[in-house]
Amino acid sequence: MKESFTNALLEWNQNGNTRAMPWKGEKDPYRIWLSEIILQQTRVEQGWAYYEKFILNYPTVQSLAAAPEEAVFRLWQGLGYYARCKNMLAAARQIVTQYHGHFPNTYDTIQSLKGIGPYTAAAIASFAFNLPHAVLDGNVFRVLSRYFDIDTPIDSTAGKKQFAELAQELLPHGQSAAYNQSIMDFGAVICKPQQPSCTTCPLSSGCKALKLGLAGLLPVKTKK
Ligand code: ADE
Repeated sequence: MKESFTNALLEWNQNGNTRAMPWKGEKDPYRIWLSEIILQQTRVEQGWAYYEKFILNYPTVQSLAAAPEEAVFRLWQGLGYYARCKNMLAAARQIVTQYHGHFPNTYDTIQSLKGIGPYTAAAIASFAFNLPHAVLDGNVFRVLSRYFDIDTPIDSTAGKKQFAELAQELLPHGQSAAYNQSIMDFGAVICKPQQPSCTTCPLSSGCKALKLGLAGLLPVKTKK
């Protein structure tokens, strides 16, 4: 069941996933990092232009590290949550001073940077370095809770552990980058929060929630 989930998802990614975004397939950890920080509190459609503007102005981690804070804040204007931007600048400076300008390439060192938590570290480690770390975001919780019919609340300690373990088990060997991108796109395009596309879903034959008529009730959260 787990293997068929992963295989069907990768198959959809190869032949059915038409979602285009500027950071897709990107291998530069700096660019991936920027996209993930922007997308933490911003929708893809809004974040897209900011991402491109940022890359034009600061194409490398060195150029960002050398920038004055006011200039970086000005580019960030409209995105809000300025702590994200402040942390990025601090981390860029950390990369220059501690790592000679080379982006760290292990999960633990990536996560030790300012403003980078488990999700962002997994995204950078997998997308840039193809390291075996499964991402866990709202899309992943939704897709897994439905396909495997898991009603443990996603914001509980038990739920976080259960989903993290399952997500890690589903990760195909040597294909972390493609897999992580696939599951996020799948959650955004097919297994949507409202009105998921179950009738045309390529994973519907194995989806437990669909079989039980529960897709609309999952995932479960304790807090409203
Ligand atoms: N949300 C956060 N990161 C994303 C990514 N790489 N692709 C799609 N949605 C995302």
